[in-house]
Amino acid sequence: MNLNKIKIGILNRKNLIKAFRNPVSALKAYKKLLERKHRFIELIDLVFDTREEYERYLEEVQNDKIANEIIEKISTLDAGNIPRNCMFTIYSIIRKTKPKIVIETGVAYGYSTTFILLALEKNNKGRLYSIDIDENAGRLVPNNLKHRWDFIAGTSEEKLPILINNLPHVDLFIHDSLHTYENMMFKFKTVWNKIVKGGFLMSYDIDHNTAFFDFAEMVGREPYYIECWERQYGFNFGVLIK
Ligand SMILES: C[S@@+](CC[C@H](N)C(=O)[O-])C[C@H]1O[C@@H](n2cnc3c(N)ncnc32)[C@H](O)[C@@H]1O
Repeated sequence: MNLNKIKIGILNRKNLIKAFRNPVSALKAYKKLLERKHRFIELIDLVFDTREEYERYLEEVQNDKIANEIIEKISTLDAGNIPRNCMFTIYSIIRKTKPKIVIETGVAYGYSTTFILLALEKNNKGRLYSIDIDENAGRLVPNNLKHRWDFIAGTSEEKLPILINNLPHVDLFIHDSLHTYENMMFKFKTVWNKIVKGGFLMSYDIDHNTAFFDFAEMVGREPYYIECWERQYGFNFGVLIK
């Protein structure tokens, strides 16, 4: 995989018409995507010793039976899951950094949950705590990965502070539940102090509002991005490193 060849947009009729109608905003959008692409590449170079190492983890997950089964199952559902290639990168980061404690908010069918658990299982180390308001969330999580999983039913507003108080630290946090400014900001603030130095705060759908960027500024961290292109091209998955 050549990181420099990552696409940053689709050149189709609809986008061309949009660009002709409003060239200034099209140029701004293009510059934003270009900047985010560079920050994605920087993240990969920061986390992995070499690009080949990153590619080896990507290859591992792409060829994994459980990963392919969940991809197949989710393709028939309207699940709002984190895009596949983004999950491949998150999987690779977990494989490389070997976190002990991972938290995610927003489970739905358990697509992201399965990729996280799969990486922890391959590491032979780590636990995942997942919070979702739907007590039946996680239906697709394979039984043989559940021994590393604690599912907490309830709102993240209520359950996250309790969980955080009961954990010694957090290595990696992923937000993918309620994407309002207040909710995202609340979660980032709740979890940040418990994240270890060098640990990760990650958020999907960062363009729903400015919470991720305001928080990055508040804690003095430059945002990184992960490429997401299953349904659309873009880099709307943000990463902060503590
Ligand atoms: C986009 S889906 C999560 C998708 C999942 N991360 C994946 O990649 O497969 C969002 C989930 O957030 C849950 N949710 C919505 N509001 C919530 C809240 N206030 N607290 C906890 N979970 C919430 C929903 O029940 C839903 O399952």
